[in-house]
Amino acid sequence: MTFTPDWPRVDAAEYVRAFGARPVVVARAPGRVNLIGEHTDYNEGYVLPFAIDRAVHVAAGTGAKAQLRVTSAALGETVTFPLEGCGPAAEPSFANYIRGVAYGLRRLGIPLAGANLWIGGDLPSGCGLSSSAALSVACATALAGLSNTELDSIDLVLVAQQAERDFAGTPCGIMDPYVSVFGRAGHLLLLDCRAVAHQFVQLLLPGYSLVVIHSGGDRELAGEAYGRRVKECESAVAKLAVEDPSIHTLRDVSLDTLNRAATRLSPVQLRRARHVVTENNRVQAAVEALNQADTDELGRLLFDSHDSLRDDYEVSCDAIEELMNIVRPSNGVLGARMIGGGFGGCILVLVRSGAVDPMLAKVRRKYDPRHESPSRAFVVQPSDGARCLRL
Ligand code: GLA
Repeated sequence: MTFTPDWPRVDAAEYVRAFGARPVVVARAPGRVNLIGEHTDYNEGYVLPFAIDRAVHVAAGTGAKAQLRVTSAALGETVTFPLEGCGPAAEPSFANYIRGVAYGLRRLGIPLAGANLWIGGDLPSGCGLSSSAALSVACATALAGLSNTELDSIDLVLVAQQAERDFAGTPCGIMDPYVSVFGRAGHLLLLDCRAVAHQFVQLLLPGYSLVVIHSGGDRELAGEAYGRRVKECESAVAKLAVEDPSIHTLRDVSLDTLNRAATRLSPVQLRRARHVVTENNRVQAAVEALNQADTDELGRLLFDSHDSLRDDYEVSCDAIEELMNIVRPSNGVLGARMIGGGFGGCILVLVRSGAVDPMLAKVRRKYDPRHESPSRAFVVQPSDGARCLRL
């Protein structure tokens, strides 16, 4: 039995079994795939992501006391914490996003009462599809819905981002919660991370598919290395700003400026900055290619983005490179690249629709036998952002 036919993963029986009552609202927040523009968001650059047709679902109902009781269906765990002083962060880590969200909503003056949350959905976690932002956005949407508050969309994005930064310890940018909130079916978001504003770009690729292939393994190292990349970009900016105080972030740097300043940067700073500067240019070029329906050019840009992430930003890993090497020469593949923070997770492939099955058969034949966890793949569609239903 399900609450709504279109959100089939929220199971009424499970909620009732967990909490002994029926829920009042169900919220759904999607994961994301970033077509291009990786590691540019925290440099105030451009990104071109879309919300995918896989999401975190949260069923919520009123609870007895001034506390949140949260059950994760995927982990089979229940955590309880008081609303008053919902920190500090603790194990299990999934609950930290919800602690952070509750803290952020209360700081906005939203009156939260005790609640029970049941978390399910069909978005795989830990593989670079932004399940943590989707979890935060879904919980914030459900809690605001439960307290009958119309939450401003930008506030919702910032509450989710802050939860991840302060309660999960990742100095992440704004892209993931932004697209989970503002996603629109059939569209990409050209998000300007300095202005915190977007334009929709229609995704029309007749005859082609976007396929996500998960490498199977965990994203070890990801958290620590992410923080280091953020700092490396900041230190490059500090050096560049000595000569030109109008430079505040890598968004303010052109490739010419960077080349002229190359000797003042360490080799690592130069490589990190070069990735960000060229990646911002690739986002603009990708929008142009989409407008011109030039799929070949779009594919080339995806490959270039990957090479830059591997060589200049150094956030790829062996498993991702193996997948890329199998997919790159495959029939019908126009482009592919790693997506998300890096060090594992997924690649995105732009491939002729008729060539999807043979390509995936090749991945299963060549990649899977060499790895403990097999690859997983699915075709992704741009979908709508977070929604809340009152039951
Ligand atoms: C993670 C972060 C995002 C972004 C990407 C890399 O997904 O959460 O803010 O920085 O990595 O583009």
